[in-house]
Amino acid sequence: MIYLDNASSTKKKPFVVKYAIAKAVRRYLSNPGRSGHKYSIVSLAKIYDTRCMIADMVNANPDEVIFTPSCTQALNLAIQGTAKRGGHIIASTFEHNSVLRTLESLKQTHNITYTIIRPNDKHTISQDEIENAIQDNTYLVIINHTSNVTGDTQDINAIGKVCKKHNIYFLVDTAQSGGHTTVDMVADNISMLAISGHKGYLALQCGALVVKSNVNIHPIIFGGTGTKSMELTQPIDRPEGFEAGTLPVANIISLYHGMKYVKRHKTKIDNKITKMTKYLIDNLSGVDNITLYSKNIFSGVVSFNINSLDSTTTANILIKKYHLALRGGLHCAPMVHQHLGTTKSGAVRISLSYFNSMWQMKYAVHCIKQLANVYNKKIVV
Ligand SMILES: Cc1ncc(COP(=O)(O)O)c(C=O)c1O
Repeated sequence: MIYLDNASSTKKKPFVVKYAIAKAVRRYLSNPGRSGHKYSIVSLAKIYDTRCMIADMVNANPDEVIFTPSCTQALNLAIQGTAKRGGHIIASTFEHNSVLRTLESLKQTHNITYTIIRPNDKHTISQDEIENAIQDNTYLVIINHTSNVTGDTQDINAIGKVCKKHNIYFLVDTAQSGGHTTVDMVADNISMLAISGHKGYLALQCGALVVKSNVNIHPIIFGGTGTKSMELTQPIDRPEGFEAGTLPVANIISLYHGMKYVKRHKTKIDNKITKMTKYLIDNLSGVDNITLYSKNIFSGVVSFNINSLDSTTTANILIKKYHLALRGGLHCAPMVHQHLGTTKSGAVRISLSYFNSMWQMKYAVHCIKQLANVYNKKIVV
């Protein structure tokens, strides 16, 4: 089976990550930060190393890094934790359901309104449209850096400038861009940055929210923090007050090593993903009976449909007959599907990692074209 579903979770991890996980299981599984014994202190130190690694990766301070179980929970914390009753939020068509459903919920509970900015013909969210949508009560702009459906990447630097000019918080979802595209929270004026550890950063399932110290945010999960234990109200010290409950030490350690690997091999990773993505885009565009939705050669995400089939059927045939592990259907981003006109059909998505290879791309293209050809003929008959 050829694994082409890396935008969901990368399945293959580098040897150094697997080795670090095995070592973590042997040595660092004591509860971090809850006790004064050496085992607890060592686990805590490992977690701190990962805070420093993330902070360095996105240009923030280690204390601004809050660990979460996933990027979904990081986005929930950012949106719910900064919610302003009666306020207004701007987001884009590209948002994932972890943003859209949270916004819908705040509409009910906090009387919040939100505006969705649609992309132009080039699949770009224009900073001018964002600026035009700003109202007196707008306090937050949310942008998905790279779409998990089309692979389009937005110019967060330009959007960050608009947010800075209007003194509005800027939340960036880097679930898909992490490990592929560099982000600098200071240069890009980002207030909050949501990270997924288990995709481009090649780690186990985990996430993080990096929150600049000037953001007024409240915890949304309450419980033990190992600090101020006599107080019945949740401490708001950062990051501990926002990390109630025991942290998944091995997963967090794996993120340290995944990020280190990505940093060390950045050029090689970028070049290989670009080469493979470009090959797919070049060879699936202009093919009879295939509609291609992706054009960003840097993203590692390529979505398409065989016109005469719905995406789930195509994906199922590609999985069962050709042993390609990819994904069909709707990709938790309903507005992108509305925009592409694929609400009914969904889309077939190939998503790559450094551990895929060119021969796999050639094989995938061969299979997809063969299938498109077979079903094209069936329609003509
Ligand atoms: C754009 C985007 N945002 C958020 C998420 C949620 O990430 P996680 O799976 O870590 O919860 C995903 C997951 O695929 C995603 O693609």
